Amino acid sequence: MKSELSSTRPRRSAPMRDLEKVEFRSIRPEELTSLVDIEGVNLPLFMRSKVLVLARIDREFVGMCGIRGILNTSSTEVSEKFQGQGIGNELMTRVIDAARKRGEKLILSTAYTTNYRSLRLTQKFGFVNIFVFTGNEVDEMMTILPLSRLGWSAVVLLRLFRRASPRTLGLFYAVVQRLVSKT
Ligand SMILES: CC(C)(COP(=O)(O)OP(=O)(O)OC[C@H]1O[C@@H](n2cnc3c(N)ncnc32)[C@H](O)[C@@H]1OP(=O)(O)O)[C@@H](O)C(=O)NCCC(=O)NCCS
Repeated sequence: MKSELSSTRPRRSAPMRDLEKVEFRSIRPEELTSLVDIEGVNLPLFMRSKVLVLARIDREFVGMCGIRGILNTSSTEVSEKFQGQGIGNELMTRVIDAARKRGEKLILSTAYTTNYRSLRLTQKFGFVNIFVFTGNEVDEMMTILPLSRLGWSAVVLLRLFRRASPRTLGLFYAVVQRLVSKT
């Protein structure tokens, strides 16, 4: 997995930006609309966050990362023109710290296997690959960051599904997706 990602990694095009200009702050989802101009931001997911960190420059939206639901599903979004400059990294650091402080047991992340940036980002923070689900049009990788012993137990248990039949895996994946989309 690692070598495959490295070999397909394109060169960075954006110059590194001074992160000091970017304001990072933990917010409640209901504060979002008053803090940034939200046009073009995928709000529905973030409005359900229990931990949410916003990045902005003046009032301009630069990025956001949050976790939601019982599986602590993470979503991260950085404005296209600011991608590849360390903002996703900083957002993720802050969300993980906040989740730990709240006593959360794990964080779940799913990403298309073609989304190398997202996969590199989670890999860097120690998210563990659970399995790749190949039943849809695009393969999807499910990863988990354990934050406690219980989180590690979940990883061990969920990784058993890697040996399951495609049908069982499909059913299991459907259950997880349902939980993820409902919460
Ligand atoms: C995925 C995403 C959140 C990452 O945010 P970002 O600000 O671009 O990422 P960062 O600049 O902090 O980089 C984080 C890591 O991603 C990888 N990365 C970032 N830009 C990269 C690039 N141009 N080429 C290769 N790898 C890159 C690197 O591993 C990097 O860490 P490193 O520089 O210390 O090695 C952002 O690209 C994005 O919003 N994408 C669209 C939405 C999405 O796919 N969200 C994730 C699924 S919820």
